[in-house]
Amino acid sequence: MQNEELLKELRCQVAECHLCDLHETRNKVVFGAGSTNPIILFVGEAPGRTEDEKGIPFVGQAGALFAKILGAAEISSEHIFVTNILKCRPPRNRTPNPEEVARCLPYLMGQIALLNPSFVVTLGRAATCALLETNQSMGSLRGKWCSHKGILVLPTYHPAALLRNEGLKSPTWDDFQMIRDTYRKCLENSSVKGD
Ligand code: URA
Ligand code: URA
Repeated sequence: MQNEELLKELRCQVAECHLCDLHETRNKVVFGAGSTNPIILFVGEAPGRTEDEKGIPFVGQAGALFAKILGAAEISSEHIFVTNILKCRPPRNRTPNPEEVARCLPYLMGQIALLNPSFVVTLGRAATCALLETNQSMGSLRGKWCSHKGILVLPTYHPAALLRNEGLKSPTWDDFQMIRDTYRKCLENSSVKGD
């Protein structure tokens, strides 16, 4: 399948990226992981310490909560791909700066084009604002479907935000019920992706 070849090429290109200073401090580039024919593409912020060590997204504490949420929503890991706005860890997990986002975003757009997910879920403010090119608050963006450059996007809170603020769990669960419903519809409608 041609897209898989192109995705491999993109992965190799990102692995050697020197476009911003984060290449100086990263251990491993975190390209993303999952199905190459996903229903949902989840987009987080950036690798944390554990992700930077392992080269795999969402394997630390926030990742454990994310896995729990996916399990509760009965979303199979077979039908998703998980990545981040930044492919390299910012030192001390600081927020990505605008230049880093600008340099790294074309990689995400390439992933979206090649993975062709049914929809994208952005996790947290950094991912949401970068992809949607907005500066609005998560409170106003979350749980509302939007179409951006032909891509269907649902923003929700970041699992790390739920670890800091228990009050975000309930609205996040509301969002995941919408995500689950749409996921199920996509699964039913797609014999290719539903196998
Ligand atoms: N937080 C993120 O945004 N992404 C990861 O991969 C891990 C934690
Ligand atoms: N701020 C963030 O960066 N992410 C959230 O999910 C909520 C607030």
